[in-house]
Amino acid sequence: MARIRFQQTLIVLLSLAAFFRVGDAGCPIASLGRRSLKQAPVPAQPALIFGFYDLTCPTLNSIIDTRMRFWVLQDIRTPGKVLRLFFHDCFAAGCEASILLNSTAEFAAEKDAPISVTLDKFQVIEDIKSEVETACPGIVSCADILALAAAKAVELAGGPILVTETGRRDGVVSYLAGATASMPLSTQKIPDLEAMFVQAGLDINDLVILSGAHTIGEVHCSNFADRFDPAANSPFGDVSFGQELLAFCTRNGAGDIATLNLKTFMDLQTPNSFDISYYVNLIIGRGVMTSDQVLFNDLRTQPMVREFAANRTLFFESFQASMLKMGRLHVLTGTNGVIRKQCGVYP
Ligand SMILES: *[C@@H]1O[C@H](CO)[C@@H](O)[C@H](O)[C@H]1NC(C)=O
Ligand SMILES: *[C@@H]1O[C@H](CO)[C@@H](O)[C@H](O)[C@H]1NC(C)=O
Repeated sequence: MARIRFQQTLIVLLSLAAFFRVGDAGCPIASLGRRSLKQAPVPAQPALIFGFYDLTCPTLNSIIDTRMRFWVLQDIRTPGKVLRLFFHDCFAAGCEASILLNSTAEFAAEKDAPISVTLDKFQVIEDIKSEVETACPGIVSCADILALAAAKAVELAGGPILVTETGRRDGVVSYLAGATASMPLSTQKIPDLEAMFVQAGLDINDLVILSGAHTIGEVHCSNFADRFDPAANSPFGDVSFGQELLAFCTRNGAGDIATLNLKTFMDLQTPNSFDISYYVNLIIGRGVMTSDQVLFNDLRTQPMVREFAANRTLFFESFQASMLKMGRLHVLTGTNGVIRKQCGVYP
C-alpha cells in the first residue's frame, strides 16, 4: 500500500512538471510570460481530479457503462479499438480529444496521419457523447468521455476496474504532423521507443506497462512485415510461429504483406481478454511486432516482462498507475480549451 501511495505522489509531481512544460512550449503568450515571470506570473490551471462530474453530471458513469456494454456486444473488438484511440489522443499533443477532429480546408488533422489510418470506433465516442449531451448538455468534455470509455474498455475485456481522473477540456486544433511526429512505430526498438515515450512525458517503464494493452486487439501484417526481412535483424524467437505468420500473411500472394488487407490478433492465445498472456508470449518468442518482442529481448526491460508474466496483480496495478500518468499528458483544464458539442466537430 505504501509503495502505491508513493508511486502516485511521484506521478502527481511528474504531471505538474509536464504541465508547465506544455505551457512553455505550446503557447506564445505563456513563453512571453515566462520571460517576465517576476512581473506577471501565469496563473496555474487546476489539476485533474476524481469525480469531477459527480455533481454536474451524476449519470455520466452509468451512461459510459451502458453504451460501452452495448457496443462491445455489437463487436467484441471494441475495447481494443477504443483503448487505442485514447493512446493515440494522449500521445499526439495530449489528452484533449484532438484525435477525434476531422481535417478542415486549411489543416490536415491527426486523424488523417498515416499512423492513424486504421483507427476505428470514432462512432462509439460520438454515440456516448450524444447520450451525455442529452443528460447534461455542455458539461462533459470529449477528452474525458474518451478517457472513461478507454478505462471501461479495459474492464469489459476482463482487465482491472480502473479509476480515472476527470476535468479535461477539449482542444480546438488537430495537426496531422503532430500525430506523425509523436507516435511510436511497430518497427522501432528500445532506444527509439523509449525516446518516443520520454518525448510524450512517459518513461521506459510505462513503455513496458502500456504495451501490455496489446493483450487485446488486432494487428495488420504490414506492422510486422519488417520481421520477414533478414536484413532488418528482428527475427522471431519462435521460428515456427514466425513461419505461421508468414504463411498467413502471404496466403493470397506475397503482395498482401505490405497492405492493410490482412490482420491477425495481437495475442493469439486469448485475443479478447485483458490478461498477462501478452508477456508470457514475449518470453516464448511469440511477440508479433518488433516493438513487442524487443521488450523481452532487451536486457533493460526483460526483468519487468518476466515479473508481469508471473504476477497479474502487479501488471494490473502498474497498468492503473501508467493509465493515470498518461491521462494527464498535456491536458487542458480550468479556463483552457472548450467543451465540444460533438466530438468530431470544431467548436
Ligand atoms: C504480485 O504483486 C503484488 C503487487 O505488487 C504483490 O503484492 C505480490 O506479493 C506479488 N506476488 C508475488 C507472488 O510475487
Ligand atoms: C468526419 O469525416 C468523416 C469521413 O471522413 C465523416 O463520415 C464524418 O461525418 C465527419 N464528421 C464530422 C463531424 O464532420
